[in-house]
Amino acid sequence: MLRGLMMLCLGTMVMAAGQVQAATPLDGVWLFDKAPSYPGVTMVQLTGQGGKSRGVVTTAWYGAMEMRNLVVKDGKATFELRNLNDKAHATRQWTAALDGKDLKLVGDIWYAHAEQTGRRGTARDAKARTFKPASLPPLGTLAPDGQARTPPMGWSSWNKFAETIDDKTVRAMADALVATGLRDAGYVYVNIDDGWQGARGPDGALRPNAKFPDMKALADYVHARGLKLGVYSAPGPRTCAGYEGSYGHVRQDARTFAAWGVDYLKYDLCSGEWFYDDADKVQRAYYEMGAALRATGRPIVYSLCEYGRFEVGAWGREVGGHLWRTTGDITDDYPTMARIGFDKNGKPEHAGPGGWNDPDMLEIGNGGMSHDAYVTHMTLWAMSAAPLMMGHDLRQTRPEVLKLLTNREVIAVDQDALGVQGRAARREGATEVWKKPLADGSVALALFNRGDAPATIAVSAADAGLASLEGVRDVWAGADLSASTTSFVVPPQGAVLLKARGR
Ligand code: GLA
Repeated sequence: MLRGLMMLCLGTMVMAAGQVQAATPLDGVWLFDKAPSYPGVTMVQLTGQGGKSRGVVTTAWYGAMEMRNLVVKDGKATFELRNLNDKAHATRQWTAALDGKDLKLVGDIWYAHAEQTGRRGTARDAKARTFKPASLPPLGTLAPDGQARTPPMGWSSWNKFAETIDDKTVRAMADALVATGLRDAGYVYVNIDDGWQGARGPDGALRPNAKFPDMKALADYVHARGLKLGVYSAPGPRTCAGYEGSYGHVRQDARTFAAWGVDYLKYDLCSGEWFYDDADKVQRAYYEMGAALRATGRPIVYSLCEYGRFEVGAWGREVGGHLWRTTGDITDDYPTMARIGFDKNGKPEHAGPGGWNDPDMLEIGNGGMSHDAYVTHMTLWAMSAAPLMMGHDLRQTRPEVLKLLTNREVIAVDQDALGVQGRAARREGATEVWKKPLADGSVALALFNRGDAPATIAVSAADAGLASLEGVRDVWAGADLSASTTSFVVPPQGAVLLKARGR
């Protein structure tokens, strides 16, 4: 052990002298100039002798990662790197092998397979590329600020446009929110997700990329239409799509967003998972931005996106969050939407006015699901008191999609002032009956059919927690039914939404 440490010191000293001398032919500094955004290895450092070697891989995402179980033999290093985004693969295998004068690096990281070729560098190069860690503040508690009394509603760029989003499209979406009547139905946030960020200026301030020439002007445009603007950042050095994150610049970025007139921030863990890998650190990282947003004095809705790790619902409010993702990403297909909506929508006791479980954005209108499946999507999100963030091209909202998204009574279930997140009252085979108490004393009941054939579902007063039913309303149809209508045929992957009144 001691001998190993001495050799590491010796190796470091040799490297620090500037002239890199090899204890094994691989030892020294290796520079990777064309680092892809995934995984972005910028430097490899190896030091020591034979089986006692130590090594560090530096990436733009995760900073300095220590090589584990490193073995150097015959001009080739094999080692493991810790992996955090997939519990089933807690470590990833890597090799670094001499290839003439170069070092060939092969391994897996994040969701990518990396193959990069590096050249020798000096200790000076190593110093320039060494990752500079940022510190975290101690955890504090933020009092409620009165925002998001009901689940936020709006539109976000990611599901449809991903990284192709630009200023012109965001403006077009703002216009479409007004023209379609979606704004007047309650969808007021226009959120730019990942892909707007450029480089930092000499003062460290984050700038938009060339697709967003003037963020303040864009905010003005959105505000002039009675709408609100959202942006996206990350507590780590890089966002999920590889753009600049807020790591080391948290307070500065909060001030920048406020100065632009931003009203909503989605803060996405991504590369931060490396640095904030336990409950304490994740909370402090999210608190740091929450406190920074508060300090700006501008009301900014704060959306925590760390995929439900470390039971975020239990502490999301205290770090200033108004909504927190409970799951990985939604995609535009029934199995994914159903898995998230039925089973990963967070604990109901965490939701309520000011703070909401967020099972991710809507896919309605993107075309990957049947009409009935989209009815389920909207019904399930409304029953869950979930944020309603549309994710399609609003300019191409077909009439039946507009009807789904603007049904006032369905929206009223989502936005109900009581703020109770509905939950399954009963599950039988492929059918589920969900219940959500509403502020007016009535109870929303949703009948879901997760199967492939039509199902008949009968409801009773007991499903609604009532002694007797006095009235039943078909919420999607906007029609009162006789109290004796208690049996419904629900199409495959479809849903029926009722409001029950009684005693
Ligand atoms: C993550 C988030 C998505 C989206 C992308 C952007 O995957 O969960 O909602 O923001 O990042 O890169």
